[in-house]
Amino acid sequence: MDDNEPGRRVARDVAGTGGLDGLQRLSAAIEALEERRTELVEELRRGRQATWEEIGRACGLTRQGATRRWADRLRARSFGLAVDSYQHGRPGYPQALIGSAVPREARRVLELGAGTGKLTRMLVDAGLDVVAVEPDPGMRDRLAAAVPKAAVRAGTAERIPLPDESVDAVVVAQAWHWFDQAAAVPEIARVLAPGGTLALVWNVRDETEPWAAELGALMHRSARQRIDTAPVPPAPFGPPERLEIRWEHPTTPAGIVDLVASRSYVIALPEAERARLLAEVEQLLTTHPALAGRDGIAMPYLTRCTRVRLG
Ligand SMILES: C[S@@+](CC[C@H](N)C(=O)[O-])C[C@H]1O[C@@H](n2cnc3c(N)ncnc32)[C@H](O)[C@@H]1O
Repeated sequence: MDDNEPGRRVARDVAGTGGLDGLQRLSAAIEALEERRTELVEELRRGRQATWEEIGRACGLTRQGATRRWADRLRARSFGLAVDSYQHGRPGYPQALIGSAVPREARRVLELGAGTGKLTRMLVDAGLDVVAVEPDPGMRDRLAAAVPKAAVRAGTAERIPLPDESVDAVVVAQAWHWFDQAAAVPEIARVLAPGGTLALVWNVRDETEPWAAELGALMHRSARQRIDTAPVPPAPFGPPERLEIRWEHPTTPAGIVDLVASRSYVIALPEAERARLLAEVEQLLTTHPALAGRDGIAMPYLTRCTRVRLG
């Protein structure tokens, strides 16, 4: 490669005379460049201005290489495109969850991937001192407006904007599967005080009701995300304690359409396919004998919580 090529010149300047200081400066610059590259990929994909093929070519990757590298991250950050649907359609959490997700002695709680604040509000109402971290600006604005008593911060699970040993408990609802767990586990352990806990929570739709099974089949026809809702977080965390709560979310037909519209894999569908899927959901809601003509619908859920303690 040409030694005077602009990238090489910048790299030489940033690294200066080398040594550990140079290496540290260079690593920080590479991280910042990578972050900016990801932002550009996000902008291009969201505006549908470039295909994965074109993005790959610009980055010296194949189409598959580019998709592998960025598609998951884009989906993880897609929720801000459907904030209203998310807030309207997604369920909250059963009250009984709070006592299991957060130990009685905890006061300072960090919620990671707090979204629009569906769990944050419950943590604040339980009298806890809550910091809510959320990377997506759209979700974060809604969260700050909805739960003014929480300290809302921009950040990610892989880079938490808090000092070492500053919280007693960390709670993650519907978001653990989006994290880079190899980076998030040590980062969560860093901010937890000794003996602190980590709780991982998911709402799973209970598809034993035939109409709920039909809805699930429709939703997963074009894509299905397999999520491990009973994970075993690695060391330095100890053995998991599990809890399951069955409950019903009172919603409406429009709420169920928004529930579907707020799934990341539905947000990612091409517009025509997304519109077709939502129309089919509406049709199910108006024609299924168990649902037709009803204004209120009870959506059955199983909330799963895994709690681990810092060893
Ligand atoms: C399905 S939503 C869950 C939101 C909220 N916890 C709830 O229960 O409604 C997933 C959230 O995780 C956030 N997220 C995605 N990747 C993340 C990461 N690496 N670190 C922290 N949050 C992340 C998304 O922006 C989104 O708000």
